[in-house]
Amino acid sequence: MQRYIKKILEARVYDIAVETPMDEARGLSERLGNRVLLKREDEQPVFSFKIRGAYNKMSQLSDEEKARGVITASAGNHAQGVAASARHLGIKATIVMPKTTPDVKVSNVRRLGGRAVLHGDTFDEARAHSEKLMAEKGLVYVHPYDDPDVIAGQGTIAMEILRQESGHIDAIFVPVGGGGLIAGIASYVKYLRPETKVIGVESNESACLALAMQKGFRDTLDQVGIFADGVAVAQIGEHTWEVAKDYVDEVITVSTDEICAAIKDIFDDTRSVCEPAGALGVAGMKKYVAREQVEGKTLIAIDSGANVNFDRLRHIAERSELGEQREAIIAARIPERPGSFKKFCAALGKRNITEFNYRYSNDQQAIVFAGVQILPNNGGREELMAEMREHIEDVVDLTDNETAKLHVRYMVGGHAPASVDNEVVYRFEFPERPGALMKFLNKLGGRWNISMFHYRNHGAAYGRVLVGLQVPAAEHDQVGQFLEEIGYTYFEETDNTAYKLFLG
Ligand SMILES: Cc1ncc(COP(=O)(O)O)c(C=O)c1O
Repeated sequence: MQRYIKKILEARVYDIAVETPMDEARGLSERLGNRVLLKREDEQPVFSFKIRGAYNKMSQLSDEEKARGVITASAGNHAQGVAASARHLGIKATIVMPKTTPDVKVSNVRRLGGRAVLHGDTFDEARAHSEKLMAEKGLVYVHPYDDPDVIAGQGTIAMEILRQESGHIDAIFVPVGGGGLIAGIASYVKYLRPETKVIGVESNESACLALAMQKGFRDTLDQVGIFADGVAVAQIGEHTWEVAKDYVDEVITVSTDEICAAIKDIFDDTRSVCEPAGALGVAGMKKYVAREQVEGKTLIAIDSGANVNFDRLRHIAERSELGEQREAIIAARIPERPGSFKKFCAALGKRNITEFNYRYSNDQQAIVFAGVQILPNNGGREELMAEMREHIEDVVDLTDNETAKLHVRYMVGGHAPASVDNEVVYRFEFPERPGALMKFLNKLGGRWNISMFHYRNHGAAYGRVLVGLQVPAAEHDQVGQFLEEIGYTYFEETDNTAYKLFLG
């Protein structure tokens, strides 16, 4: 550990990085009953802390190495750190990024004078390509997290935190991707203030440190979700694991909805919008406070970055209410006769309706799809459902139903006419990029008739589609094989409750 302390104290980050403020988040402090401080790494020149590690590494290269030029693979923020550092030091930089990288990160690299190469759909594919280019061109590799000098650069955040908050700190919540940030922070904090908890926070779609902690070795995740693109890493780093396994107190994992809710919390307190990875610290802190029931503590969350495409904000805003447990999505079957809608609304009590979808389907029954606001003073989802069931016979809670939230809410009313038979339903995900939907349709289109299709661009890295296909019973077992061949991630949804109620 002492090796890192020395490296952190000697790190040369302030030629280019700034000492960021640590602000009290008043709204969060009040709501959580603790003193909440945000370390504002979103205020760095490239809108994330990544510039610290990249610059610390690159400024220590020999003249010969500088002359050769550097290369890296990055999901985005490290790329900008490398590009900005290269410009400052007069070094040529090549940066390989997955094609799914948000535009804002790609254009920033180019604006900073870096050579951006887009390759592959995942970070691992981009990294393999960057290693090939490195060997071919004799370039120097600047790793995004698994390098002692990068880790030391990130550790300068801890130095600032302990200077800025001289009183007792109960816990620091740190976003984790490959572990460079938490390794830097943990080694410094545990050396000087071992009583302060260092808690890692990961997206539950890329929880590689949690996996390693559980197994005791650096196992690799089979699949990585990229909603929090800054931390979409399948395996914790080697150097970073050496530190994390001894000095990280615990790892908390959070859902996409919880991340979205934390983005809103940070916005409410600071009027700044952070990226999904940047909000992990706050999301984890909220879970910790709820679990431990702590009060009056000093808790710090690292707001690690703000590189988010503007068009993702619609999706984030939509999901933040669910993540906060402020909205429930329900479906109810009510008689198709005057007065029954009123009865439905009465059953909601004083709760507001946030969304309502319904379409006449027959003269016997109506099925409504509703979003309902949940307020602290009228209980949670269980209370809502219990009250509803007193008045409405047939009501279901769809709040955790991904298909309902992503697709069905936008296509209610599309019951298949009697002439549509043999319908099977699949939900697909594919990397979003120009022409991707057309390619998807072309691949899918030829074989069976498409009887239903819903797609919505969320501004996210992955496009999502719900498709109905008319497949004669005799051909059912060919569908799986066909879908395996076309190679997109898919889930069968023919038995999904939301599909059956509204579309089937
Ligand atoms: C905004 C943001 N937060 C957190 C992280 C995680 O950092 P590390 O990979 O060092 O764990 C990253 C990594 O790129 C990031 O961009």
